[in-house]
Amino acid sequence: MKRKFWLVALMLNGLSAGSHAQAVPAVAHTLLPVPARLSPREGNLPLRSTFTVGVTHFRDARLEAAIDRLQHNLEQATGTPLGHVVQPQSTLATLSVDVDGPGEVVQSVTEAEGYTLSVTPSGAKLHAATVVGAMHGLETLFQLLETAPTGYFFSAVEIDDQPRFPWRGLMMDCGRHFEPLEVIERTLDGMAAVKLNVFHWHLSEDQGFRIESKLFPRLTAMGSDGLFYTQDQAREIVAYARARGIRVIPEFDMPGHSRSWFVGYPELASGPGPYTIRREFGIDDAAMDPTRESTYKFLDAFLGEMAQLFPDPYLHIGGDESDGVQWKANPSIQEFMRAHSLASAAALQAYFNQHLVAILEKHHKHMVGWDEVLNPALPKNVVIQSWRGAQSLTLAAQQGYQGILSQPYYLDAMKSAEEHYLADPLPSTSRLTPDQRKLVLGGEICMWAEHVNSGSIESRIWPRAAAIAERFWSPESITDPDDMYRRLNAQSTRLESLGLTHRSHEDTALREIAGSNSIAGLRLYASLLQPVSFSDRYQQQHTDQLTPLTNLVDAVRPDPASRHDFARWTHTVLKPGPDAAQARASLESAFKSWISAAPEIGSQLTAIPRLQVALTLANQLPRLASAGLAALDYLTRGAHAPAGWKQSQLALLKESQSKTALVRYTFLSPLEELVRAVPD
Ligand code: ACM
Repeated sequence: MKRKFWLVALMLNGLSAGSHAQAVPAVAHTLLPVPARLSPREGNLPLRSTFTVGVTHFRDARLEAAIDRLQHNLEQATGTPLGHVVQPQSTLATLSVDVDGPGEVVQSVTEAEGYTLSVTPSGAKLHAATVVGAMHGLETLFQLLETAPTGYFFSAVEIDDQPRFPWRGLMMDCGRHFEPLEVIERTLDGMAAVKLNVFHWHLSEDQGFRIESKLFPRLTAMGSDGLFYTQDQAREIVAYARARGIRVIPEFDMPGHSRSWFVGYPELASGPGPYTIRREFGIDDAAMDPTRESTYKFLDAFLGEMAQLFPDPYLHIGGDESDGVQWKANPSIQEFMRAHSLASAAALQAYFNQHLVAILEKHHKHMVGWDEVLNPALPKNVVIQSWRGAQSLTLAAQQGYQGILSQPYYLDAMKSAEEHYLADPLPSTSRLTPDQRKLVLGGEICMWAEHVNSGSIESRIWPRAAAIAERFWSPESITDPDDMYRRLNAQSTRLESLGLTHRSHEDTALREIAGSNSIAGLRLYASLLQPVSFSDRYQQQHTDQLTPLTNLVDAVRPDPASRHDFARWTHTVLKPGPDAAQARASLESAFKSWISAAPEIGSQLTAIPRLQVALTLANQLPRLASAGLAALDYLTRGAHAPAGWKQSQLALLKESQSKTALVRYTFLSPLEELVRAVPD
């Protein structure tokens, strides 16, 4: 959808609507993800307290609950009590919902998720083949809500929507840091709002075993620090997700990343125990023993139990980063490998995975694994999750395996939403044949938890995950980052009203760090910072599972508004057009605000021991602001900078790239462009 067309349509609408012309504001929609097909129509549908919903055909408790959530969200957003009227069989309601049937009893990867939505001044009509499709349509309708001084309304529109990819996931690592149930439920609310449909639940790690097993109680009794989900809680999450059209795929990482299993069951391991929960991050040598029948007996019983708990047809067995060190050190495993002509650790892992496939098949599950499991010894119904590069997805498809792409969607890389957004799981330039392309099921966003806890995790996931959700749902041609950010800002606010803490966390964390309510200076400083990438932090700061994550880096948000604002303002100034004066004014005002806040920022950082590391960086802020103001001045006057000016500003910019405080400025690259644009 090109924004321009929408505006033109509304203007024409305004002209043709005669006396109603004033009531039609020129708004660009803020739908995210953008629907597959959308045509703006004339007029709008006002939202009044008389809003009713009619269900004209199929209805069930899941559909009714989704309608109720829409009504609740509309009430919250407008402050208007709606009465929650649902009229059976009515076509006269404000919103009529026409659903053919319930959809699959256990939602699968082929569930029909499409819907059509028509909004006219006299009412809205939603049609879908399944309740899942209808739920997506209800989310779209909520996103069509607009505000004008004359009241709230839905813009008139015809939408015919369906996803580009059937597998649109978010992986949450609850092994390294445990996440409380309410965080997971809020995450599921956020996922539903942007039409993500797979919650990949990473439930076991070296650092913790997080799900109750009634057959093997020592898994959590000894391997979880008491931080685990009971089976009832897991069922609650599965039901909560299903109620929102989301599948839940549990992951039990093996044969590596499995030390926590061995605390209670050391006989599963390839090396002698005893074992303790690993607090360090990184790759652990401990691995399951693939040569013993007893290992498979255990896994058969355990996976059978989990297969009952998690109805999804897929189950993830991890398979990543198994280094083979324990296997090499164990003479009987070496002997086994020789006897079975298994020449490498990879071959032994493939042997292990073949057994797992058979166990999973017995329990009616398909295997998903990280890309290390890709091996021609495995049957073609194994799904490969590509994390080391898009290459393994291509290789998998060429060999006939289905795959999902995760490599460009690692949130802990602390990239901008834009960078994630522009990475396509299946670009039109892909070398895959049409049949191979069908094997690419979609993508998954990954939220690994070395550096997040229950306080910060939402600020790492949102709103960037919403931008990626659009990549998975919308047509490949929807790629304008400026328009994405415009809609993402609106969506971020809507996510906040679901209770997500992605924005509020920063202030809360800054108050905690400051031990004070007075954080104005800190807040301005934090708004210009973002965390360094996972690998930069991993190299510079030793953290383990027990490290408090309450530093400046944990408070600031990835890709805050300042990053995109500065880039946009700068590019507007450098490519003069009608908006250049406004953009210059925005830059000037920002630079001046940094200079005036600098003394307060300095004194707050000095006063708080754990913020002092950021003092050097903070001291550069007024100098960077002066560089920006001077550059704007030279550019406005078309004046040359004095000799040496540019060089010294570039040196300052380089110094300011320091990552020693584990945070980095958001604006350095556009500021450098500004400085470089000044004539010598
Ligand atoms: C992974 O990031 N080790 C799957």
